[in-house]
Amino acid sequence: MYRYATFVVFLTLGIAFQVSHGTEVNVTDKDNQLCLFANLMVNFSVSYEVAENKSTTVEFELPAKVTTDESTCDVPSSVLKLHFGEGHSWSVNFTINGKMYQADTIIFSYNLSDTTLFPNSVSNETKTVAVKHHITDIGLDTCYSCKSKDVIEAGVVNQTLWNVLLQAFVSNSISENVTSCAADTPTTPVAPTTHSTSTTTAAPVTNSTSTAPPPTTTPTPTLPTPTTGKYRIKRDENSTACLIANIGLRIGFKQEEMNIDPNGTKVSGSCGVDSSELILTSNTMTIMLTFTNDTKKFRLHALNVTGKTSSGVLFSEANSNLSLWEAAVGTSYMCNKEQNYTITSPLTLYTFDLQVQPFGVKNGAFSTAEECFLDSDLSFLVPIAVGVALSFLIILVLISYLIGRRKSRTGYQSV
Ligand SMILES: *[C@@H]1O[C@H](CO)[C@@H](O)[C@H](O)[C@H]1NC(C)=O
Ligand SMILES: *[C@@H]1O[C@H](CO)[C@@H](O)[C@H](O)[C@H]1NC(C)=O
Ligand SMILES: *[C@@H]1O[C@H](CO)[C@@H](O)[C@H](O)[C@H]1NC(C)=O
Ligand SMILES: *[C@@H]1O[C@H](CO)[C@@H](O)[C@H](O)[C@H]1NC(C)=O
Ligand SMILES: *[C@@H]1O[C@H](CO)[C@@H](O)[C@H](O)[C@H]1NC(C)=O
Ligand SMILES: *[C@@H]1O[C@H](CO)[C@@H](O)[C@H](O)[C@H]1NC(C)=O
Ligand SMILES: *[C@@H]1O[C@H](CO)[C@@H](O)[C@H](O)[C@H]1NC(C)=O
Ligand SMILES: *[C@@H]1O[C@H](CO)[C@@H](O)[C@H](O)[C@H]1NC(C)=O
Ligand SMILES: *[C@@H]1O[C@H](CO)[C@@H](O)[C@H](O)[C@H]1NC(C)=O
Ligand SMILES: *[C@@H]1O[C@H](CO)[C@@H](O)[C@H](O)[C@H]1NC(C)=O
Ligand SMILES: *[C@@H]1O[C@H](CO)[C@@H](O)[C@H](O)[C@H]1NC(C)=O
Ligand SMILES: *[C@@H]1O[C@H](CO)[C@@H](O)[C@H](O)[C@H]1NC(C)=O
Repeated sequence: MYRYATFVVFLTLGIAFQVSHGTEVNVTDKDNQLCLFANLMVNFSVSYEVAENKSTTVEFELPAKVTTDESTCDVPSSVLKLHFGEGHSWSVNFTINGKMYQADTIIFSYNLSDTTLFPNSVSNETKTVAVKHHITDIGLDTCYSCKSKDVIEAGVVNQTLWNVLLQAFVSNSISENVTSCAADTPTTPVAPTTHSTSTTTAAPVTNSTSTAPPPTTTPTPTLPTPTTGKYRIKRDENSTACLIANIGLRIGFKQEEMNIDPNGTKVSGSCGVDSSELILTSNTMTIMLTFTNDTKKFRLHALNVTGKTSSGVLFSEANSNLSLWEAAVGTSYMCNKEQNYTITSPLTLYTFDLQVQPFGVKNGAFSTAEECFLDSDLSFLVPIAVGVALSFLIILVLISYLIGRRKSRTGYQSV
């Protein structure tokens, strides 16, 4: 099966090669293992001076014959450097970013003394352009594929990339899984992923042979309010619950939002004296909530979310420095209004209909609730307080103005 897949990859490459005459390179590491692979086409459009104040533009392709001498494969960062012709080079550096890798900078150097490419050039220098590029979020251990044209403009040089298939940080062999660029994905609306059912299919990870790659993160339309889950943790099967939580949960990762459907979500966890844990496992995500008891108060101290977006991108985000949902030990924390919390920069937690009690649960039921500010009837006081403060400010300004006027009048009189 695996050999078959590898065969398919090479078959595809073979076809791509025959059709497009792309530039194909394999970079190996010190141990002679394949670590970077690329098959791509690049057109350069370069504008250069041919006479004083007169410039011309030439277009040429990245030739099939290149050398990769200065390419390097190291783990947090690798460089693909292609040398061609009379001292020209094109390089891309890749870095790992969590479970993803990305192309950071594309550097193109061209030797204006090369009269075959740049006839009548006034200058004989070697020029370099560098562009920070936007090839990001390529899943580790996947190939990046982009058949569409991608034009990178950088002043006097435009570079057009197309039929790109590459993989940096190859482990063992070229991956059969592909991260496709947004331009390759059909623009027709994404088939509605049924977020409200627990049977949401695991995100597709396409083979390089598939023709319809997964859509990359498109902002999801507004989701329905998630169903409130009633989660209970017991110390053992015969005792009453020691941790109880009623929550409607939604996780936002970058542009995508995902509701947690309690139906189909497995509940586990533990109750301790200082720390209790609630772990919710759906078929696309695992959410770990850690509560701490600091004698008088409890709070949500840590949140760890590991999951997969609808486009198959794996993520794992954690913050263990939180102070949310604070209430006295022996009471519960409640917030019925929709709340959102930024947990890490890409991850947002949304809660609906929240009530939790991680410590001191009696008879398996919630004790008195401490409500969040938004729920409390006092929240209507906020606009009033702001209004009062503003009118006070206006009166203050008015008084100082009147005093100022009187002073300046006496000033005029004394002249
Ligand atoms: C070229 O342009 C500069 C100013 O941009 C001007 O001073 C110079 O006379 C021009 N030379 C020619 C040959 O047109
Ligand atoms: C790339 O350059 C070649 C040679 O100039 C040209 O024939 C071809 O149409 C160009 N392709 C693209 C996609 O710009
Ligand atoms: C630039 O091109 C000229 C002419 O082809 C060549 O002599 C020179 O070595 C090249 N420069 C580099 C840095 O390769
Ligand atoms: C570039 O041109 C300058 C004069 O225009 C000349 O002195 C220099 O030797 C040239 N350099 C190369 C590498 O050809
Ligand atoms: C690069 O592309 C832009 C937009 O298509 C165009 O205006 C510009 O002339 C191009 N520059 C070169 C050097 O081809
Ligand atoms: C490709 O993706 C599938 C499904 O996620 C996974 O089981 C498999 O291990 C992946 N293969 C490689 C080579 O990463
Ligand atoms: C990937 O390829 C295997 C056979 O190589 C096939 O069984 C599987 O359905 C394919 N998966 C996708 C998502 O295309
Ligand atoms: C739970 O109760 C049943 C019946 O009373 C008993 O057989 C079982 O051992 C108990 N389990 C635990 C963990 O105490
Ligand atoms: C939970 O899901 C199962 C299977 O998807 C379904 O049969 C059942 O009716 C659902 N239960 C609720 C309460 O929605
Ligand atoms: C979050 O959970 C994942 C998977 O269980 C684990 O690998 C990771 O270490 C956890 N992160 C933190 C900060 O606890
Ligand atoms: C997050 O909550 C604030 C108020 O608490 C609200 O103004 C904002 O729109 C919410 N953001 C999202 C993305 O729902
Ligand atoms: C909370 O912590 C304090 C001190 O560690 C402990 O005495 C108390 O029993 C804990 N409360 C609960 C409900 O576990």
